[in-house]
Amino acid sequence: MSDIHVERADKVLVLSFARPSKKNAITDAMYATLADELEAAETDPDVRVVLIRAEGDAFTAGNDLADFAAVNAGNGSSVRNVERFLRALTAATRPIVAAVQGIAVGVGTTLLLHCDYVLLGDAAVLTTPFVNLALVPEAASSLLLPLRIGHARAFSMFVLGERVTADTAVAWGLGNRVVPTASLDDEAMTAARRIAAQPLGAVTATKKLMRDVSAMAARIEVEGVQFRERLKSAEAREAFVAFAERRKPVFT
Ligand code: COA
Repeated sequence: MSDIHVERADKVLVLSFARPSKKNAITDAMYATLADELEAAETDPDVRVVLIRAEGDAFTAGNDLADFAAVNAGNGSSVRNVERFLRALTAATRPIVAAVQGIAVGVGTTLLLHCDYVLLGDAAVLTTPFVNLALVPEAASSLLLPLRIGHARAFSMFVLGERVTADTAVAWGLGNRVVPTASLDDEAMTAARRIAAQPLGAVTATKKLMRDVSAMAARIEVEGVQFRERLKSAEAREAFVAFAERRKPVFT
């Protein structure tokens, strides 16, 4: 069993990041569970909405950097499960609600671009420091983030790793509402139940009309080629070693 907790309540599938000691950094096994659950939800009549949330004080610190370092060193098995997760997330017809508390790094932020209703705790911070790690954006975020918030803001998030607070995220259209962290889970479940009570056929048809899935899937393929190449670079190795050694990377 991976560090993803899976529960079902009131036609809502609740997927929780549950690796708080590592700030919910996502391992290959966690991506596998997320992909399995999203794929199964598509044909499960008891699932009308998916809710993604987290245990602990962080939403997620993004991809596990030890997994990245292993791929960089030629020891990683593959990045297959993250790719499977991204495909399932992009293709999901069930609406997805997200409850974000604390830090949401990398894929923790880019997955929100595929969610349909995003609630942010008042201490939430979104950040996509791909270039800080000598990587490139993924999850079709190179397409979706500039469309959502404009090129200048997206560039600053991707290339300088600019951190975006909850209030700013909502002002930029990255979330629906900011709520006190203490009531985040209750508010998210209330939102999920409200969506679940709507007619499922019309909800999924509306979501489908709002999203160009083939354009997103095509962008994920293109990003993936670059991402896998960057992941094996010397500059990425320096970024991963620096994180493990708790120092700033030197890219000169
Ligand atoms: N992968 C693996 N482990 C991670 C991790 C990640 N992405 N993020 C945090 N951790 C681990 C830390 O190594 C630490 O483990 P340890 O207690 O065994 O030493 C633990 O989680 C707590 O992290 P710490 O850095 O001490 O917490 P913090 O509150 O000072 O900082 C973050 C939290 C998320 C800001 C910081 O950990 C961070 O920048 N992580 C890397 C994020 C990242 O670059 N993700 C990839 C994006 S593509």
